[in-house]
Amino acid sequence: MNDYALEIKNLKVIFPNEAGIVRAVEGVNLNLQKGECVALVGESGCGKSVTSLASMNLLTSPPAIVRAEDIRLCGESILGLPDKKMQAIRGKRISMIFQDALSSLNPVMTVGKQIDEIFKRHSKIKRSEARRKSIELLKLVGVPDAETRYKAFPHELSGGMRQRVLIAMAFACEPEVIIADEPTTALDVTIQAQVLEVLKNMCRMKSTALLLITHDLSVVANMADRVYVMYSGKIVEAAETYPLFTNPLHPYTKGLMASVAGIDDEAGSTFVQIPDTLPNPMRKPQGCYFNPRCKYATEKCKEAMPPLKTLDNGRQIRCWLCAENSN
Ligand SMILES: Nc1ncnc2c1ncn2[C@@H]1O[C@H](COP(=O)(O)OP(=O)(O)O)[C@@H](O)[C@H]1O
Ligand SMILES: [Mg+2]
Repeated sequence: MNDYALEIKNLKVIFPNEAGIVRAVEGVNLNLQKGECVALVGESGCGKSVTSLASMNLLTSPPAIVRAEDIRLCGESILGLPDKKMQAIRGKRISMIFQDALSSLNPVMTVGKQIDEIFKRHSKIKRSEARRKSIELLKLVGVPDAETRYKAFPHELSGGMRQRVLIAMAFACEPEVIIADEPTTALDVTIQAQVLEVLKNMCRMKSTALLLITHDLSVVANMADRVYVMYSGKIVEAAETYPLFTNPLHPYTKGLMASVAGIDDEAGSTFVQIPDTLPNPMRKPQGCYFNPRCKYATEKCKEAMPPLKTLDNGRQIRCWLCAENSN
């Protein structure tokens, strides 16, 4: 028995359309240990949200076609569970927090009632008890004057307060896993930091595993224990946060780092100078998907996709130029 809260094994998602096939996720393996905070980073459109939605069985099919070897929650397979069973798991054992609190919250119901509802949906509990627990949660996530805010409607709260309410809702049933998809992208930088701090503290306090999805590498530095870097539907690098930041190995990760820090180092400047964004998901380049943007690319890189190699220290990298891969 391993100690994984969530395991995603060989997940593939495609969206067929008249013009061709969008290969959004191409064989992603990702896991979270119990209580661990793991970040999934990469540019917009690389497949982060589709990875999380597909693993929670939240993609509409058609158009999505989802295949996986397995998806396991605390060792139990949840792949292909009927909708009813999945619904019971979502919110209770796995919660999701999205970027846009206004569209995640019901505009005509007070925030307090919305938290109460989660308690009531997943356990037999009296109304007064639900209310007490909701207010306690609002206090925990740092909502000042929680009794009054309990009675507020979503539009009466600031963006940061609404995001705290979503965090409270996500923790209501003390789930084993929380998936937060760009949870603070819509907020000002200072508020972002405060909300992330709340999320981190709540996860620590409740020993909840967190999958933090973001396009912004700077967000993960203080949050994550480990990071997966995704490019065009594939994981290209995975490492613990400190080694990843101090010694990024993949040219794409180096570029991401440099663009965050505003550093004009070799790899970074190449990456930043090339205006090209992600490859067209219907016409990905031959070989390594990053090769057209990579200044180190060789003939081999243009011909064949490198495998995701696990190094002796446990880091993973998908690059022909990595010493272990090149011979
Ligand atoms: N419902 C959909 N139908 C068709 N293509 C989609 C759909 N949802 C996402 N995609 C495509 O899948 C790819 C990955 O998207 P997404 O996971 O949302 O990226 P991000 O990393 O920004 O979260 C993109 O090319 C996107 O256009
Ligand atoms: Mg997304």
